[in-house]
Amino acid sequence: MAILTQKIYQSIRNVVWEGNFVPLHSPFFGKTEEKYVVDCIRSNFVSSVGEYVDKFEKAIREYTKTKYTILTVNGTSALHICLLLTDVKKDDEVLVPSMTFVATPNAVWYIGAVPHFVDVNKESLGIDPFKLDEYLSKIAEVQENKCYNKKTHRQIKAIIPMHTFGHPVDMDELTSVAERYKLTIIEDAAEALGSLYKNKHVGNFSKMAILSFNGNKIITTGGGGAVLTNNEDLAKKVKHLTTTAKKPHPWEYVHDMVGYNYRMPALNASLGLAQIEKLDEFVEKKRILAEKYKESLKDVEEIEFFVEPGYARSNYWLNAIILNKEYTDARDEILEETNKNGIMTRPVWKLMHKLEMFKDCPRMDLSVSESLEKRIINIPSSAHLIKD
Ligand SMILES: Cc1ncc(COP(=O)(O)O)c(C=O)c1O
Repeated sequence: MAILTQKIYQSIRNVVWEGNFVPLHSPFFGKTEEKYVVDCIRSNFVSSVGEYVDKFEKAIREYTKTKYTILTVNGTSALHICLLLTDVKKDDEVLVPSMTFVATPNAVWYIGAVPHFVDVNKESLGIDPFKLDEYLSKIAEVQENKCYNKKTHRQIKAIIPMHTFGHPVDMDELTSVAERYKLTIIEDAAEALGSLYKNKHVGNFSKMAILSFNGNKIITTGGGGAVLTNNEDLAKKVKHLTTTAKKPHPWEYVHDMVGYNYRMPALNASLGLAQIEKLDEFVEKKRILAEKYKESLKDVEEIEFFVEPGYARSNYWLNAIILNKEYTDARDEILEETNKNGIMTRPVWKLMHKLEMFKDCPRMDLSVSESLEKRIINIPSSAHLIKD
């Protein structure tokens, strides 16, 4: 092991419990999870209608302080529905960060729309609103309240800020850019349940936002997602569209449009209800873990441990270290050796504009994302990882 790798490896080992294998992120279940899941099975209401769906939706509403929550089968389907209800159509463009999980541009593609990739900043690892503003001033024009890409002549309808690893994007700045260019914001808060932007829970800064409860997220339902909104009319439409567009009726099957079978089953929701009861504890533990990493890594001068932006209180879903530019070449050895020695680490996602299916999509200068892609390493981040 090279010296730098050794220093990083040891600093992580000093913080996490001893074990042959330390996963990147694993869920934590207790007795309540078993109790609610068994209770759900015994109730016979295991599918998309049932007490646990209502209870989990209520718990998310209360936690996030959004007015409406509609549970979905996963975060990707939630994004798909948000885009459909934002009136994004075939050949429209949607601004998305290139540094994100593939679900974000995939959902745009499902509709036949075109992801238009934008850069991130180093403060949040999410969309850089200032760089975006400058870019749009050159390539976009607003006519009759609609924004057009002057190069492609397509309409740019929406923008999806993604709160990377749980760290909120600068939503005030982004909102002012979106207002200037008549763009609808959809927050991809898949990774950010429990994170606050200026003391308010993420998901409250856009028309619609999404969460994910995949197995690797801060709380999990096995697989699952949610749409959050403060708009009653939209909430009704989300519920309708995710419930095969079936008109409510005690026995008749009437569907008034082509809908989707996207509602979360109660069985998953029962797990989610038990998990959300632990959410405050998970956030607290993850914040302590991040503090310990920061302390333990402070003498490793070749790297920076990523800390939340000043305006945020993050859930620290996934901790990250960023190699200084001169040490970019060390990344692969660090990944290889840490994984070989039982500490699971990962690079950030391959950038979206480099994937075969998105390589011809429009994009701005992505130099910050490209530099970060080579230097970010995610390190183990489960809530229950701290040694004592
Ligand atoms: C940023 C981001 N968006 C969307 C998703 C999609 O969520 P799901 O896996 O629940 O479909 C995920 C996670 O998996 C994600 O990390």
